[in-house]
Amino acid sequence: MPDSLTNSKIVAAYRERTPKSAELAGKAQELLPSGIAHDARYMKPYGIYVDHAKGPRKWDVDGNEYVDYFGGHGALLLGHNNPAVVAACHASLEQGTHFGANHPREIRWAELVRKLVPCAESVRFTSSGTEATLMAVRLARSVTGKPKFVRFLTHFHGWHDHMTSGHQNHFDGTPTAGVLAGIAEHVILLPPGEVEAVKRTFASRNDIACVILEPTGTSFGAAPLPPSFLHMLREETQKHGIFLIFDEVVTGFRVSPGGAQGEFGIKPDLTSLAKILAGGLPGGAVVGRRDILDDLDFEAAERKKREKIAHPGTYNANPLSAAAGIAALELVGTGEPCKKASATAASLRGALNDVIAEERVPWAVHGTFSGFHVFLNPKRRPIDPHRFDPLTLEYTELLSNPPALAKLLRLAMLSNGVDVHGRIGGFTSATHGQAEVEHTARALRQSIRMLRAEGELPGA
Ligand SMILES: Cc1ncc(COP(=O)(O)O)c(C=O)c1O
Repeated sequence: MPDSLTNSKIVAAYRERTPKSAELAGKAQELLPSGIAHDARYMKPYGIYVDHAKGPRKWDVDGNEYVDYFGGHGALLLGHNNPAVVAACHASLEQGTHFGANHPREIRWAELVRKLVPCAESVRFTSSGTEATLMAVRLARSVTGKPKFVRFLTHFHGWHDHMTSGHQNHFDGTPTAGVLAGIAEHVILLPPGEVEAVKRTFASRNDIACVILEPTGTSFGAAPLPPSFLHMLREETQKHGIFLIFDEVVTGFRVSPGGAQGEFGIKPDLTSLAKILAGGLPGGAVVGRRDILDDLDFEAAERKKREKIAHPGTYNANPLSAAAGIAALELVGTGEPCKKASATAASLRGALNDVIAEERVPWAVHGTFSGFHVFLNPKRRPIDPHRFDPLTLEYTELLSNPPALAKLLRLAMLSNGVDVHGRIGGFTSATHGQAEVEHTARALRQSIRMLRAEGELPGA
């Protein structure tokens, strides 16, 4: 643990509340690298161990209650244990978890995806979002016969070899540990939101198969993109015969029932989906133009005299995920969950900015749809939190929350009964409401006061 945390009262308060989590973390250290199963769960002195959850809240093994903004890494638009999803899972479990065969639910699931997602003429289920972006790029290369593709710095598309440089490090495009230089060199990394860089790159070469991006910007808008950037990309990709891939693993079924493409009226050629798609269970999909997904189709590939892309996957469209996905998407299709979650997030952003203004800290909470991001403003710009427009700042500055302060703030929020992610922000669900907004505002006020008492907010 960094020295600055060793004597912290915030850390001491956290430890005092969570002895059982500490004990489990000690055991986990011996078994799992860093004691965890997902890098986002790495934290010092240790993360909480959760026992159960319901709606917008979860309870750790020590009995502490939290308002949850992790939201299953964005998968839980309907909150924890939505009754329709739980009932669908029970019914499916009774029938068996794997038939090694086609099953009726995968058809209903695909029908719902096609009904909701504008570009989804055809659907291929995968087991995760990482697999979906991997297949999307492979399809684009197969159909165009071109080797390179464009990604945007800091955008996240899972952890396969093509997606690692330029996310959190290696911004120069050099390969990250364990990745071949020959793979990294086929990825063209561009700064997000820079129209001229895109136009110049597209116009100056003819070896680009596709461009992929998070359509509302890095990490669901922590560094947002204006919709005009998406429209420009659609025009420019069409002009140059480059496929446009929206990575809607997070935005899909969250921004609107039709995702970002439904909200902004832009049809990409391909889309990767996961998270809400499978109702909180594991699952993903690559969807898009039928003529592109034809490269996965035995007969179509033969008819077109093309090599079919192989795609096995033991858990593709597994019955349990399909059951949860159907139940979730039927509810998403009403439009209500997206509306409710977005309205609550707007009210939360307002309430947190009230606290920030009243407590006179130079921060701001921003976000779109059902997201919120706490910007810790390391350059201490004179900003009015209620009027803060993140599009006026560089993405690098928006993503530069000081790690030590963010860590303490997160621990303080946990000690005040709120779980936010490490960059300080999160997702609302359709089950979050006024009670959660008020609780979170109180927790932020208390956390700011704890930080100030510890001398972590000098001069504020
Ligand atoms: C935008 C985006 N794409 C892809 C992925 C990878 O999905 P998965 O974790 O299901 O592999 C994520 C995961 O958080 C994501 O946020």
